[in-house]
Amino acid sequence: MSEAEMANIPAATQDDYYAIAEATLPGAGLGGYSLPEDTRFIIREGHGGRLTSMEGREYIDYVCGAGATIIGHDHPAVIEAVQERAAKGLHFFGTLNDAAVELADRLVSVIPCAERIIFTTTGSEATSYCMRIARAVMGKPKILKFEGAYHGNHDYASFSQFPTHAANYPMATSDIGGVPEALQDTMMVAPYNDLETVESILSEHAGEIAAIIAEPVQRIIFPRSGFLEGLRRLADKFGVLLIFDEVVTGFRLSIAGAQGHFGVTPDLASYGKIVGGGGPLGCVGGRADLIDATNPNRKGRTDYAYINGTLHGNPIAAVAGLATLKVLQEKDFYDHFHGKADRFRKAFCDVLARHSLNAIVAGQASFWQFLFTENEPANQMDVLASDMQRSATLDGELLRNGVYVLPNVRRFFSAAHTDADLEVSLDALNAACGTMVA
Ligand SMILES: Cc1ncc(COP(=O)(O)O)c(C=O)c1O
Repeated sequence: MSEAEMANIPAATQDDYYAIAEATLPGAGLGGYSLPEDTRFIIREGHGGRLTSMEGREYIDYVCGAGATIIGHDHPAVIEAVQERAAKGLHFFGTLNDAAVELADRLVSVIPCAERIIFTTTGSEATSYCMRIARAVMGKPKILKFEGAYHGNHDYASFSQFPTHAANYPMATSDIGGVPEALQDTMMVAPYNDLETVESILSEHAGEIAAIIAEPVQRIIFPRSGFLEGLRRLADKFGVLLIFDEVVTGFRLSIAGAQGHFGVTPDLASYGKIVGGGGPLGCVGGRADLIDATNPNRKGRTDYAYINGTLHGNPIAAVAGLATLKVLQEKDFYDHFHGKADRFRKAFCDVLARHSLNAIVAGQASFWQFLFTENEPANQMDVLASDMQRSATLDGELLRNGVYVLPNVRRFFSAAHTDADLEVSLDALNAACGTMVA
């Protein structure tokens, strides 16, 4: 089909849509992922913990909107809130809207470090604002991050994100095209779960480091006992700020995020995904004296950290977030959610063991991923040392069998997953393991 035909003829089948996607979208994808041709599909709709493709095929969905849809794709309370709000106008700018104010009030009440809130549109913006505020307030240029951590798509986050080997710490490595070389010197890197290296970097460079930024759960890597507490202690000892990137952990590990779950309070924290209930919203929460660096009344001063965005505080995403938080705040929500996740993970482990595959179901709570290794990873090099080719093959087989995961990407359980979803997943995993063994 020619491009002109494509433009004029309404596409009917999934193949037609892929033909259009191949002509219009790089790699026929929407961002950093593009499934291989033999497993790819186009989503038509999502309900609960399942997706339906354009061809009418059902998938059990463990990608969960990259973690945004913790209570499923169409929770009635969220859908109702969005529909009701949409009828009152899609977006406003320049002055407050009531939904954003209500959400700010709720966030300050549940996020331990948040005396004030800044709204953003994405998690990436939230981490970039955290870094800017830290630099503006501390008057120091550098940020210390952890190897393999993901903090979004902006230039400062784009160092030591996809390492293939250990860095020469603390020199951050550049692994993405188009990022100015000049920025490399503003980022430093340490291995996750390694307080000794963090301390030695801080003892030498604290005078130029504004903040440490950490994912409290880095991808699929959980913090070793004492690691986050150690970061807090070292940040205080050396006079640098501690930023938790809670874009994934926020409202997932507990209503108070990783801060509540692990009992460590950072100075600033970034959020995305769940805070907008599946809509375009992120935020930064933090100490009032830090967040106030963004007060628009400071314009023109050098301690003013500029923030602004057309969609910041979008009312539809705000009501979706509020409705989601209300569900998460129901009695015993997290006990049930984490209990179910443990049950699912154990059932997956049993299947792997039955097939004598030398793999683990890494993760805790609602985080999981298959890794062909023996132990839970402590850092990115441990993940890379696992047999990632085999895990990608297993993930590919799962896709073929109707389970939506992205190969070698950490995935989630959702509160909407049912026992029936588990049964379907176990059959798929059993078949996938059978193929692997064969
Ligand atoms: C820990 C973390 N930080 C930041 C981001 C960026 O968020 P967004 O994709 O909303 O820009 C992500 C996205 O997955 C993330 O996982």
